[in-house]
Amino acid sequence: MTQSLRALVLGAAAGGGLPQWNCSCKNCNLARQPGSGVEPQTQSSLAVSADGEQWAILNTSPDIRQQMTAHEALHPKSVRHTPVLSVLLTNGDIDHIAGLLILREKQAFTVFLTASIMEVIEQNPIFNALDRNFVTFRQVGLEQPFELAPGLEAELFAVPGKVPLFMEGETVDTKLESDQTVGVRLTAAEKIAFYIPGCAAMTPLLKERLRGAELVFFDGTVFENEEMLSTKTGRKTGARMGHMAMGGDDGSIAAFKSLGVRRRIFVHINNTNPVWNPASMERVTVKAAGWEIGHDGMEVTL
Ligand code: MLT
Ligand code: MN
Ligand code: ZN
Repeated sequence: MTQSLRALVLGAAAGGGLPQWNCSCKNCNLARQPGSGVEPQTQSSLAVSADGEQWAILNTSPDIRQQMTAHEALHPKSVRHTPVLSVLLTNGDIDHIAGLLILREKQAFTVFLTASIMEVIEQNPIFNALDRNFVTFRQVGLEQPFELAPGLEAELFAVPGKVPLFMEGETVDTKLESDQTVGVRLTAAEKIAFYIPGCAAMTPLLKERLRGAELVFFDGTVFENEEMLSTKTGRKTGARMGHMAMGGDDGSIAAFKSLGVRRRIFVHINNTNPVWNPASMERVTVKAAGWEIGHDGMEVTL
């Protein structure tokens, strides 16, 4: 079996998906109209493999059942089987962990996660539904490479972020750099890719890490920090939610400008983000800057 680094975008949208059940913003309305040009998208998840046979899933969204049905590579090969050997969590947000509950059917796999994300799981007894006789929770430290699936290595590193919304206290550090929010460096067949679906700010350290990378999947939650306010869909800024915007001087497009990253793909894109609409100015801006908009079913092989 020839080895490569294969990445399959299972879900390109942020929490809520596109359309979100209770939203009639412009994008959500268009996504409900077939042929509008705005395609429905499921919630944040990426599948990766080195051999195309054995897979790891990075973040398990509540849409995981639909996502696994949509991709033959993830179908069971016998009466009780899964090609998914492991799950890796990059934070404790609902859109990234709730899918674990769907995967509860006495099937063996390993969940790789940091100590802080494990705490979130442990504080929520509903996750006891995952029978520990089958599902192994393996805590991994930052900057410590481990085998995620055969031929596929992962290494986690802290990126600015915050604790999950449902764990927030009176005050919230929205640029906390800890094992609450991590990015992933993936290596297979001597190819390297990064997956960072949530990031509150670009830091000098993160820049150095990403410089010259062949492929980066990056947080594309909002185009503009005040987007939820201007679309009247919410009162929070992107920054308050722990996400840097695409546009603006502090945005991801500007931050990546001189990094020489060959393929830059936005994922975890909120339903309010105008880039979902191919006819938007923002889509033009993003594409002109050399970025790609992730979408459900997108495949990248290095
Ligand atoms: C986020 O990415 O900010 C969270 O998924 C928000 C949420 O939990 O709804
Ligand atoms: Mn999210
Ligand atoms: Zn919407």
